[in-house]
Amino acid sequence: MNNLNHEIRRYFQQQLELYPENVFLADKKPKAEKKSMEKENILEDLYSRIGDCTSCALAEKCNQKVPGHGKTDTRLMLIGEAPGREEDKQGLPFVGKSGKLLDKILAAIELKREQIYISNIVKCRPPENRNPRQEEIQKCIGFLQEEIEVVDPDIIVALGLTASRNLLNSDSSLKQLRQEDHTYQGKILIPTYHPSALLQNPSYKRPTWEDFKKVKKLYFGE
Ligand code: URA
Repeated sequence: MNNLNHEIRRYFQQQLELYPENVFLADKKPKAEKKSMEKENILEDLYSRIGDCTSCALAEKCNQKVPGHGKTDTRLMLIGEAPGREEDKQGLPFVGKSGKLLDKILAAIELKREQIYISNIVKCRPPENRNPRQEEIQKCIGFLQEEIEVVDPDIIVALGLTASRNLLNSDSSLKQLRQEDHTYQGKILIPTYHPSALLQNPSYKRPTWEDFKKVKKLYFGE
């Protein structure tokens, strides 16, 4: 089924390239009408391509791929760095210690994980939880860009330095990036600290709370 979806999409893309005059596409639906079923079908195909990916060495070492997960009709998407041990076991993002803290942070702004979409910069666990390398990120980030395009959130929160720097194509500090306004793929992007950094250094709690208060305002339109 996934391959079939992929083939059908490829066929129409080819037709569009070859005969742009003869292919009639329906008007782009307004965002509110974009059916979550449609999104889920496209994501299913994407997840299957992520599952088949062998573009970098991480694919050989991880137990399984961890694509994004969550509500596809949402205004908010969170992006972390890479799956850890627990995520690699379960095939889901942020289900370990950092994920538990993330759930608490979300609860503090009156949101539940079921209401949002969560993903990572890379979809395979790096060995011993080392930081993903630049060449690994470059091979993988296209998957995330597709997820963003399909889910089409209004607000993106980049969790930690790796996510923030790579989305913003910057080598500034998180402290610096947090002071600036950003967009990514036309969405508001808020860089903040990674929950694992908060677990190690409680002094990051206050600035993270400031950032999530901003997220709450944007999300609920207060
Ligand atoms: N840390 C991340 O950046 N992502 C996860 O999915 C889990 C921990």
